[in-house]
Amino acid sequence: MAKQIAIFASGSGSNAENIIRHFENNPDVNIKLVLCNKKDAYVLTRAKNLGVPSVVFSKKQMEEGEILDLLKKEQIDFVVLAGFLLKVPDEIVAAYPERIVNIHPALLPSYGGKGMYGMKVHEAVVAAGEKESGITIHYVNEFFDSGTTIFQAKCEVLPTDTPEDVATKVHQLEYAHFPQVIESVLEKL
Ligand code: GRF
Repeated sequence: MAKQIAIFASGSGSNAENIIRHFENNPDVNIKLVLCNKKDAYVLTRAKNLGVPSVVFSKKQMEEGEILDLLKKEQIDFVVLAGFLLKVPDEIVAAYPERIVNIHPALLPSYGGKGMYGMKVHEAVVAAGEKESGITIHYVNEFFDSGTTIFQAKCEVLPTDTPEDVATKVHQLEYAHFPQVIESVLEKL
C-alpha cells in the first residue's frame, strides 16, 4: 500500500509542485492532498493543474481539530510542510511523531523561530553579512523551527548578493534536495 502524503502550504507552492512531480511515477508514494490556509494562494492553482485535490481551511478550523480529523479520515501517513506559515497544533504533532517534516530557508538554528519566514530570513542573512546560507529540513515538534534536523545544504552568500539573490540560491537547493530527502525518510518508515 502506497504511503499517503499531505502537503501543507500557504503561498506560491513551487516546492509543493516540485514534490508532487517528483513522486508522480512512484507507486509507493501518493501525494493525496494539498492543504492550504490561504484561499488565494497560488499553490491551489498548481495543485489543480497537477490533479491533486486541495482543501482550504482557516487557522480556527485547524486549532479546533478539523484538520487532524481530515488527516485521519484521509488516512494520511506523513505530512510535508512546504512554505506553511501557521504553527501546527500540538495535537497534530502528537498524532504524527517524526512524521511531519518542514523545510526552512536558512541554516537552523540561525535565522529561525517565530516571524522568520520567506524574505525576512534572507533579508536578515544579508543584513548580518553572512558568508553562507542554505536550507534545513527538519522534523516538526511543538516549537517553531526546533525539531531534529534531518538534512542541511549550504550555498555561498556574496557581499554583493541581495536578499532576492539569496532567495534564488536557496530555492535551487530546496528543489534539488527536498523531494529526495522526503523519499529517503519515507523509505525508512
Ligand atoms: C521556501 O523558501 C520555503 O523554504 C519556505 O517558504 C518558501 C516557500 O516557497 N518555508 P514556495 O511556496 O514553495 O514557492
